[in-house]
Amino acid sequence: MSTAMPAFEYDIKDVSLAPQGKRRIDWAEREMPVLRLIRERFAAEQPLKGVRLVACAHITTETANLARALQAGGADALLIASNPLSTQDEVAASLVSDYGIPVFAMKGESTDTYRRHVQTALDFVPDIIIDDGSDVVATLIKERPEYTKNITGTTEETTTGIVRLRAMQEAGVLTFPSIAVNDAQTKHFFDNRYGTGQSTLDGIIRATNILLAGRALVVVGYGWCGKGVALRARGMGANVVVTEIDPIKAVEAVMDGFRVMPIASAAAIGDIFVTVTGNRHVIDREHFAAMKDGAIVCNSGHFDLELNLVALREMSEAPVQVRPFVEEYRTGSGRRIIVLGEGRLINLTAAEGHPASVMDMSFANQALSVEYLVKNKGTLEPGVHLLPPEVDQEIASLKLRALGISIDALTAEQLEYLSSWETGT
Ligand SMILES: NC(=O)c1ccc[n+]([C@@H]2O[C@H](COP(=O)([O-])OP(=O)(O)OC[C@H]3O[C@@H](n4cnc5c(N)ncnc54)[C@H](O)[C@@H]3O)[C@@H](O)[C@H]2O)c1
Repeated sequence: MSTAMPAFEYDIKDVSLAPQGKRRIDWAEREMPVLRLIRERFAAEQPLKGVRLVACAHITTETANLARALQAGGADALLIASNPLSTQDEVAASLVSDYGIPVFAMKGESTDTYRRHVQTALDFVPDIIIDDGSDVVATLIKERPEYTKNITGTTEETTTGIVRLRAMQEAGVLTFPSIAVNDAQTKHFFDNRYGTGQSTLDGIIRATNILLAGRALVVVGYGWCGKGVALRARGMGANVVVTEIDPIKAVEAVMDGFRVMPIASAAAIGDIFVTVTGNRHVIDREHFAAMKDGAIVCNSGHFDLELNLVALREMSEAPVQVRPFVEEYRTGSGRRIIVLGEGRLINLTAAEGHPASVMDMSFANQALSVEYLVKNKGTLEPGVHLLPPEVDQEIASLKLRALGISIDALTAEQLEYLSSWETGT
């Protein structure tokens, strides 16, 4: 809980963890060269001067570096957690103590505390909201409609949040512009695929220390995240099975070399299950009932409703915690089902989320989206917007430069050829 040290309010686990958090934030920063360049430009140009900004995000080392960039640009920022289990308490402590940024987040906070922090964020009366999953924006619209007139715009980090924003737009309640950061190519191509791919397996391995080689690993959903999880699991020797509801994604998985089948069939053969759909109850009562003894089940989609854990609890004795983030359910038939991270994003509960190198591009998109909203205040239509494609190109170019990789440019002859139609066979 809060101590009296810094002269502003905050709600974190322990401010004395700050030195450890500061070292970790600095370590991540080494892998975030694009965001560093943006921070340096922001410090010189002050594009966010006077902006009141709330960020609802996983409170990780990478988010801390985003917060530093926004602060350098002149924003008055407040941070809350976007998930009760993803906060890195030492990072929250350093943000409060070393950077003077109010944070309201603790790893393991209750749902009530999580909701209270959302209210605290709205009490701050922000101009800009950075959201991850759309909980702050949904609460604003439902519970504080009178505050929406203060909003310059919002940005949304993840696929699930954008699905919700589009539903708000459809319902006619989204009265301000919202940038779909996830839909930038330099976000989902890399963060969702390579970030989730690696960090989800990292979470499973840290929680269980199991060998993936030779195991049947079922990936539920072959979207951007699912492709990454399947690709990396195959790389570690797992025998990967994919389930889908979209025929195009299913064909893609087949041609990528994976076995594809309905979840009803996969349930009986899987050793490990990972859901990444953004959808509800994709592993349901009948699937738990069909699983082998010792099956391991986890989720890396945004919300903890992909696994029907209510049904599993009804089918089982009270779960026993066998390791941190590992709970064993013994069903009526005596089989054991192992659930990781309480069904919340496993990469952020049992591991550290995506590596900094990939969040560099995601958060470059966030920082530039905030700048774009401020620059275009009052001129953007209400609704969901994409960042202009040249911003994507710019972020990719900066990333290449930081990696020391150069690429070719079109020659004048090629440019002319590509813009003409006369030359054929
Ligand atoms: N763990 C993380 O750090 C992280 C990172 C990025 C995104 N996410 C979240 O992961 C989820 C997936 O994101 P994405 O970008 O891959 O989305 P996506 O839309 O690209 O993919 C989701 C896939 O799930 C499939 N699907 C839906 N219902 C299904 C069902 N019942 N059975 C099987 N497949 C089903 C869809 O057809 C689609 O192909 C979202 O909730 C997103 O917010 C998590």
